[in-house]
Amino acid sequence: MGKILVTGASGVVGRHVLLHLLEQKSADQLVGLVRDLSKAEDLAAKGIELRQGDYLDPESLDRAFVGIDKLMLTATHAFTDRNTAHANAIDAAVKAGVKHLVAMPIMRKPTSTFTMKEITAEDIFTKDRILSSGLAYTFAEHPPFLDNIHFYIGQRAHETGVLVPAGDGKFTAATRDDLGAAHAAILAGSGHEGKTYRLTGNPAISFADIASILSEVTDKRVPYKAVSEEEYTRIKSSEGWPAFVVDFAKGWVHGMNTGEWAEETDDLETLLGRKPTSPAGFFRNHYITD
Ligand SMILES: NC(=O)c1ccc[n+]([C@@H]2O[C@H](COP(=O)([O-])OP(=O)(O)OC[C@H]3O[C@@H](n4cnc5c(N)ncnc54)[C@H](OP(=O)(O)O)[C@@H]3O)[C@@H](O)[C@H]2O)c1
Repeated sequence: MGKILVTGASGVVGRHVLLHLLEQKSADQLVGLVRDLSKAEDLAAKGIELRQGDYLDPESLDRAFVGIDKLMLTATHAFTDRNTAHANAIDAAVKAGVKHLVAMPIMRKPTSTFTMKEITAEDIFTKDRILSSGLAYTFAEHPPFLDNIHFYIGQRAHETGVLVPAGDGKFTAATRDDLGAAHAAILAGSGHEGKTYRLTGNPAISFADIASILSEVTDKRVPYKAVSEEEYTRIKSSEGWPAFVVDFAKGWVHGMNTGEWAEETDDLETLLGRKPTSPAGFFRNHYITD
């Protein structure tokens, strides 16, 4: 029987997918693709085979994908050549005779005109490339990562207040652990080919809601304060982020504030067979100590 390969196994999402797959499959059915074998020794110690490969080295992908039935394509970093990386992986999957590819584009409203540098155009390119590849596919569309929200509001938001550019839009968010578990359910299960899942957490929240949650968690008033774009740039820069990362954060916050990820679905809950981690649950358990 062919194996399941997860790319990006040294990263957060890829690692979670493999760890959840281990709950349903034996280790000898699982393979992790990594650029650097030493970055996933913990997975190897659990019996998962690691194969070395780089999205930008097509021959390494041809070698790594031999004997693979199902493949999870973990999206690669922003600020790299994401189109070439993803195209190489898709082409190698076709060559290797992969029977089912699961990809994780960012969620997008059907009629959306929202664009974000480094993300939206590349994800549309990747989806189109998969659709024209002839591969059986599942699109496991992602909302913003709940466990990344501190990047937008600041690690000390519970002390400083939630200071972001103005907007009252709501957005869904899900943890990378829950998203990884959903990917594992797709990869270990059957009947998911040709489907698009919108893996939203619940409920959708605004930045003002986050301030309310942090107030409840800390038992003191954490204010929400809309700041100007200039002030937000100053705040993020003072945290040490370079200008291109500050602009990236502003792009995400703009999408959140304008309702790009406001839709709530049951897809994540259905795949998990339980409620996803809620924002309140996440912040209560993790934010303060993160
Ligand atoms: N929805 C959201 O809110 C959100 C936010 C940020 C990012 N994202 C997307 O979600 C993806 C996964 O998130 P994450 O937190 O798991 O990221 P991560 O921890 O940075 O993992 C990314 C993985 O991709 C691998 N990778 C990068 N370049 C590669 C290449 N050329 N060839 C092979 N593998 C390569 C990395 O390997 P190395 O360990 O060797 O670098 C790593 O294993 C990100 O890459 C990004 O596309 C989504």
